[in-house]
Amino acid sequence: MKSKKKLVIANWKMNPVSLEEAKNIFNFTKKTAALLKNTEVLVLPPSIYLQPLSKISRPKNLFLGAQNSSAEEKGAFTGEVSVSMLKDLGLKFVLVGHSERRAMGEDNKIINKKLQASFEAGLTPILCIGENVRDKEGTHLEFLKEQIKNSITGLQKKHMVGMIIAYEPVWAIGKSYKEAMNPTDIHETVLFIKKSVGEFFGKDIASSIRILYGAAVESQNAKPVIEYGNVEGFLVGHASLKKEEFPEILKAIDSVK
Ligand code: PGA
Repeated sequence: MKSKKKLVIANWKMNPVSLEEAKNIFNFTKKTAALLKNTEVLVLPPSIYLQPLSKISRPKNLFLGAQNSSAEEKGAFTGEVSVSMLKDLGLKFVLVGHSERRAMGEDNKIINKKLQASFEAGLTPILCIGENVRDKEGTHLEFLKEQIKNSITGLQKKHMVGMIIAYEPVWAIGKSYKEAMNPTDIHETVLFIKKSVGEFFGKDIASSIRILYGAAVESQNAKPVIEYGNVEGFLVGHASLKKEEFPEILKAIDSVK
């Protein structure tokens, strides 16, 4: 993945309910991706669809990745999928620490272990962070800093260079664009995230990381967020499944230099 390009991640979550529908969504995504000049697209389908979708030809700027992986290498972990299995399937990317996984009990310690495991397997993890609520006192900033510190602690510097972090304010996830965070607040939060990474890993690493915004990205707010939000791409949930929405988001982001 070339870091100069913007990145849009399609997080399908536990959708759609059939392989046929998954192929349809993948196909309209593929068609639009082929038209893009400045943007790479990473599709994260449910793991059961990864293999069949990987057999479909796709343009060079379209990638497939996993929504989750185990922190363990192999063994008695019913229902889990390891980073080596993802690697063996030819995948390069894995989402780590999405708020919906955190809500199922994943804490920063497990997330840290998953990041280590992904890097060691040669995968590129995308770390998700985000506060549940915001308040005027700014306690959400302390919360974010703690999340960052505890997720990346002990990682090797070489792995931190160019690391991808998806900032997703949890209170806006799944909502309409009208309830998304405004670009000015996103901009400020991105600066705060970089500053926090800098405190733990130094300025050079902080300026190398790529920050994406996620939560209620729809075709209506994609352009202002990329223009003024200080981010290098998006993590898109519900809108990534919609034929009338996702291609518009991709075209909007691609049109911004
Ligand atoms: P949303 O989800 O776009 O539906 O808000 C984003 C996410 O949870 O990654």
